[in-house]
Amino acid sequence: MPNTDPVKVTIDDQTITVPKGTLVIEAARQAGVMIPHFCYHPKLKPDANCRMCLVEVERMPKLQTACSTPVGEGMVVRTATTVVNDAHKSVLEFILANHPLDCPVCDQGGRCDLQDFSHEYTPTTSRFIEVKRIFQKEYFSPLIEKQMNRCVQCLRCVRYCDEVMDVKALAPVGRGTMTEIKHFTTHELDCEFCGGCIQICPVGAITSRLSMYEFRPWML
Ligand code: SF4
Ligand code: SF4
Ligand code: FES
Repeated sequence: MPNTDPVKVTIDDQTITVPKGTLVIEAARQAGVMIPHFCYHPKLKPDANCRMCLVEVERMPKLQTACSTPVGEGMVVRTATTVVNDAHKSVLEFILANHPLDCPVCDQGGRCDLQDFSHEYTPTTSRFIEVKRIFQKEYFSPLIEKQMNRCVQCLRCVRYCDEVMDVKALAPVGRGTMTEIKHFTTHELDCEFCGGCIQICPVGAITSRLSMYEFRPWML
C-alpha cells in the first residue's frame, strides 16, 4: 500500500498539509491556487501531454508538470513566477497559432479553458501569419459534433472513453498539429446517452447538437 502519511508542502508561500503522493495540482487546489491545465482531469490517469501546468519546484532544475508530480515532505512550489508565466504563454501561443476565431459561435464560449487562459496569459495580438490548419466539421453521431480546428490535443476524450467508459471508441490519428480525434467504427457512434466526451473536452472541439446555435449548455 502506498505511503500516504501527511507531508508539509509550500505552494506560493502557503504551507499546507496533504497526504504524501498527492499531485501538486491537487495540493495547489487545496491551497486555493488554480494551476492552468488542459490534459489533466481528476477522473483520469495523469498523461502530462499538454505542458500547460508547468510550475517551479525548489531544488529541481527544470519546470515540472504539476499534474504528474507528487508532493514530498518540505516541497516548495511556485506557480506564478516570470519563468512559469512565460511557459504558460508559450504553450498557449503554440495552441492559438492554429486555433480559429470561433468564440462568438462556439458553444464552449464563456466556460472555455482556452478562452480563460488566453485572457489571463497571452497578449491581444498574434505573431503568427501562417495559414491555420483546416479540418472539416464531422459528426460522431446524430447528437455529437466535432470541430477539430478547436482541438488542443489533450486526449481527455480518448482517455475518458477508454478509462472511465471502457468503450475505447476514440483514438488520435495523424501527427503533430494535424492530429485529430477519430472513432473506429465505419458508422456513427451509438452512444448518444453518454456524452462524456462532450463534457470532458476542455474546449469546444466536441459539442452537443441538441443546443447548437440555440443556447450554450452551461447557461442552463
Ligand atoms: S474552443 Fe474556446 S477559445 Fe476556441 S473558439 Fe471555442 S470558446 Fe473560443
Ligand atoms: S477533442 Fe477535446 S478532449 Fe479530445 S483531444 Fe481535442 S481538445 Fe482534448
Ligand atoms: S495538465 Fe499537466 S501536462 Fe497537461
